[in-house]
Amino acid sequence: MSALSLKDKRIIVTGASTGIGAAAAEIMGSLGAKVLVAARSEDKLKKVAESVTKAGGEGHYLAADMGKEDDILALVDKAKSLWGGVDGVFANAGISGLAAPIQDYPLEAYDEVMNVNLKSMFILIQRVLPGMIEQGSGSIVCTGSIASERGAPMTPAYVMSKHAIVGLVRAAASEVAKLNIRVNCLLPGVINTPLLEPLAEHVAGGDMDKTLEILDAMVPQRRIGKPEEAGWLAAFLLSDAAAYINAQSLAVDGGLLGIMRS
Ligand SMILES: NC(=O)c1ccc[n+]([C@@H]2O[C@H](COP(=O)([O-])OP(=O)(O)OC[C@H]3O[C@@H](n4cnc5c(N)ncnc54)[C@H](O)[C@@H]3O)[C@@H](O)[C@H]2O)c1
Repeated sequence: MSALSLKDKRIIVTGASTGIGAAAAEIMGSLGAKVLVAARSEDKLKKVAESVTKAGGEGHYLAADMGKEDDILALVDKAKSLWGGVDGVFANAGISGLAAPIQDYPLEAYDEVMNVNLKSMFILIQRVLPGMIEQGSGSIVCTGSIASERGAPMTPAYVMSKHAIVGLVRAAASEVAKLNIRVNCLLPGVINTPLLEPLAEHVAGGDMDKTLEILDAMVPQRRIGKPEEAGWLAAFLLSDAAAYINAQSLAVDGGLLGIMRS
């Protein structure tokens, strides 16, 4: 048995400027991957790309807004011009969006969440599949959430988008599994990233330390997760070690989904 490796795999990671995406990109670099990282902030991306190279891979970056179709197309074009093809995609960019009940939820906020979280993944998958089909291999990992499997109040567009990502993953896998292409969904539980910051207001009146304490206590393992703990699953799913895992939703959540009521 060889150790986990992504040697020379050509991988796009979106939402890679912070949190899970940045951690995953660095892990992929340490496993020998060539990684093109994307998000909106060029400064942050440059640093992440450098950390990929420092870890032992080859880091590249492109500032791209996943809410804009042209930016997504430019991202795939950049990967093709760098490498001639793509072996893996970690479609991870996501926003929690506005917090409001359904009856007050503005449609502009709904559209923004759906575009960034869901439509971006659809477009990305549309654009990378032809090359993967031609080369006869590929692995795609989309970031869902425990909100892909359970409801949650005040973030209807987020919960809807994350449920739909599971549908997208299953639909895509049902078409391309026979072509040696795998499409899976990673479901992070509560992970300590900037995405949690807006939560502090609702959970503990803006007190982040108190918020983290409350969140820790909710989890069976009695702590929230680290970005790299989700990043390792993404790296594994993109590797040949996961060659027979397809159309799955896998949680990294310290046991949370196992005890959550629907
Ligand atoms: N942190 C958690 O507890 C948690 C739980 C469940 C799911 N998730 C999911 O994990 C993924 C990563 O989130 P994270 O926790 O690392 O948070 P994060 O805020 O650190 O990362 C989100 C990434 O997406 C990028 N992004 C946001 N809007 C974008 C846009 N319009 N165009 C391009 N990039 C954009 C951000 O710049 C950042 O790089 C998201 O899909 C999120 O929904 C996170």
